Amino acid sequence: MKYFAANWKLQKSPKDAREFVAALSSARKESSSFKMIFFPSAIALEAFANAAAGKGIGYGPQNVFFEGKGAFTGENSAMVAKELGCEYVLLGHSERRTLFSETDELIAKKTQYVQSLGLTPIVCFGETLKEREEGKTKSVLTKQLENSLVFADRSKPLLVAYEPVWAIGTGKVATPAQVAEAHAQSKKTLVSLGFSANTPLLYGGSVKAESAQELIGIPNVDGFLIGGASLEVKSYLDICACV
Ligand code: PGA
Repeated sequence: MKYFAANWKLQKSPKDAREFVAALSSARKESSSFKMIFFPSAIALEAFANAAAGKGIGYGPQNVFFEGKGAFTGENSAMVAKELGCEYVLLGHSERRTLFSETDELIAKKTQYVQSLGLTPIVCFGETLKEREEGKTKSVLTKQLENSLVFADRSKPLLVAYEPVWAIGTGKVATPAQVAEAHAQSKKTLVSLGFSANTPLLYGGSVKAESAQELIGIPNVDGFLIGGASLEVKSYLDICACV
C-alpha cells in the first residue's frame, strides 16, 4: 500500500475544500493500491470532512495539542478531530518545528496522545541544509526519530515522513540516491527502536508528477507527503498515477 498525503498548509478555504473533493471524486479512478490522505487547515477541516464522508479518503488536522480540551487558547483538539471522522494527524512538520518552535519532546507527547485516541499520526522529520552540509544528516535523523517517537505505542498504527527541510517548497527534490540513503537508514533506526519494518515511511519535499515516478521505485519509499502539487486535483492525481 502506498500513501499520498496532501499537506494544504494555510491554503484552502472551506469552499475550496468542498470544490476540491467534488472534482477529485469525479476525476479519480478507484484504487486499492494507494491511500489518499488530506490535511486541510483546521478551519476548513469540517467542510472537507462533510464533503469526503463515505468516499474512502483519509483526512485530518495538520497539528493538534496533547490534550483534547481545556484552557489552551488557539490550539486544535484531536478529540474534536476524531468526532469529525479524522483518522490521521500530521505532526512535527518542519514549519511547526521552525516557525512555531516545536521540539521533539512536544511532538513526542502529541504522538502519544493522538495514538491513545486511536488516530494515526504521521510524524515528520528531516535535516536542514546546514546540517546536511556539515555531514550531520544521519545523526540528526536518528535523534529526531528517537526523541519524537519516544512515547509512541509500537503496537498501534504510525507513519513517518522524511522531509529534508531544504527540499520543502523550494522546487529542489532530494536526489534518488539521497532519498534511498535516508530511507534505508531511517527504516533501520525505526526497527532498532522497536517499530515494525513495515512502518510506512513517506518522502516529502517538492514532489511533483515528474519526480514521483522515479522516487516511488526506491526501496523503503512508501508514498509521499505533498505540499504545493497537492493543491490542484490534476497535479495531485498525476502523482498518484505513479503506482
Ligand atoms: P512541498 O511541501 O511539496 O510544497 O515541498 C511539502 C511539505 O511541506 O510537506
